[in-house]
Amino acid sequence: MTPTRDEIFELYALPDRSTRRVRMNFIESADGAVTLDGSSGALGGDTDRAVMSVLRTMADVVMVGAGTVRAEGYGGVRMAGPDAAWRRERGLSEHPPLALVSHRLDIEPEHPFFAKAVVRPFVVTHEGVPERRRRALDEVADVLVHGAERVDLALTLAALATRGMTQVLCEGGPHLFGSLLEVGLVDELCVTIAPRIVGGDAGRIDQGAPEADRRLRLASSFVDDEGYVFLRYAVT
Ligand SMILES: NC(=O)c1ccc[n+]([C@@H]2O[C@H](COP(=O)([O-])OP(=O)(O)OC[C@H]3O[C@@H](n4cnc5c(N)ncnc54)[C@H](OP(=O)(O)O)[C@@H]3O)[C@@H](O)[C@H]2O)c1
Repeated sequence: MTPTRDEIFELYALPDRSTRRVRMNFIESADGAVTLDGSSGALGGDTDRAVMSVLRTMADVVMVGAGTVRAEGYGGVRMAGPDAAWRRERGLSEHPPLALVSHRLDIEPEHPFFAKAVVRPFVVTHEGVPERRRRALDEVADVLVHGAERVDLALTLAALATRGMTQVLCEGGPHLFGSLLEVGLVDELCVTIAPRIVGGDAGRIDQGAPEADRRLRLASSFVDDEGYVFLRYAVT
């Protein structure tokens, strides 16, 4: 049965806000496709959007890879009134900032990611990126430079925690998930199974991580009235 907003908050409640946590959120079809028509939106439904809002409401920061920003057109995260109020009551900013992770940093300051940002975002990159490209984004974002030749995501999470941002919601995409998995930085996987078979050549929710038997513990599950299955796993 489709849960109410309050029930969704309970299903995804955080045990505390002091333990550092990376929570992934994805949707996939029953045959494992991460996109339909090139984006995840076409797979979603009302409950999935409600869960996404709740997860964003609980987050200190929403992390996303540059490929997802290019494909899904992220232009800022604005929480609706009750969600903003939930955050305010807990001493959080009304809207969580976004953090974009990019290796190449081939993004202009005019991009909607910056132009439509609700709060000043973070950009995460590494020292190998030409300084002029990093400088070009100084006006529109806090640029975090972590790692010599590639982004050191452990440093990024530590730096965010130093700023009081311990609860990281990562909305993908698959390559960023793969990178986080590879270095053992994922604590939780929230995945929605859409009642669709997509076929085609859409990828999986994780890309690039070496094969391993990574065990999960099911923390909660429910099915909504449209047949979407919502799974919350802890990485053990
Ligand atoms: N179903 C879902 O829930 C869902 C969620 C998210 C995305 N998607 C879909 O997934 C597709 C995009 O997949 P993707 O794997 O390309 O997404 P992605 O992981 O967001 O993007 C890959 C790009 O992000 C940057 N990046 C990722 N990990 C990095 C790391 N460890 N260090 C530095 N940069 C890193 C790089 O950007 P640069 O190229 O700028 O260096 C890389 O080329 C889209 O079609 C999107 O719609 C689906």
